Amino acid sequence: MDRDLIIAPSLLSADFSCLKRQLEAIEDIVDAWHIDVMDGHFVPNITLGPFIVEQISSIVSKPLDVHLMISDPLGYADAFLSAGADILTAHIEALESDEAIEGFIDKVKSAGKKVGLSLKPATGPEVLLPYIERLDMVLVMTVEPGFGGQSFMDSNVYKIVWLKDKGFDGYIAVDGGINNDTARVVKQAGANFLVAGSFVFGSNPTEAIRQLRG
Ligand code: DX5
Ligand code: ZN
Repeated sequence: MDRDLIIAPSLLSADFSCLKRQLEAIEDIVDAWHIDVMDGHFVPNITLGPFIVEQISSIVSKPLDVHLMISDPLGYADAFLSAGADILTAHIEALESDEAIEGFIDKVKSAGKKVGLSLKPATGPEVLLPYIERLDMVLVMTVEPGFGGQSFMDSNVYKIVWLKDKGFDGYIAVDGGINNDTARVVKQAGANFLVAGSFVFGSNPTEAIRQLRG
């Protein structure tokens, strides 16, 4: 992950019946793989758990960027770290106290992995202030978490600018509705990590990734 702009396809839009083939086809041109973990409680959808993350980690070599959309990220962090997560991101809305947030950050960092916090569209970036210096990534959601294929909400772009203004020098990641056009908008604002699901896997992945790099 030594590029200035990280492209992380979201496996949520891949075809799991031939996942290995789909990932191998583009592994050389991506920087990381984004894996969406949903529990049917924090978000109204269920996807996959540590067992599948471990299987994915055995078929790819690029870092795994695991996005936890679950109600108890602190309780499950160890399981996803053991399964092979290289970046582990929790929603700040799911961590109900300052101790829980610090605890999540401590756990991921003491495993030697990168830690991120994510913001739902309705959450303002100020909540990150006490933790910002310890974070490797902030994941700005530009759709309501839960499903791929939704439209980009440009009302979240100010959060990218806010992070730049605060001097945040980790990954400013954007997730939801990223395509050729919206990628330009978020890169312009300062994002350096793009997650894209339906845009990458919906047509020609190689061409889509080329377009995202711009
Ligand atoms: C949504 C997930 C996203 C999703 C993005 O809750 O966090 O990672 O896969 O999909 P697209 O790129 O189709 O909006
Ligand atoms: Zn995601």
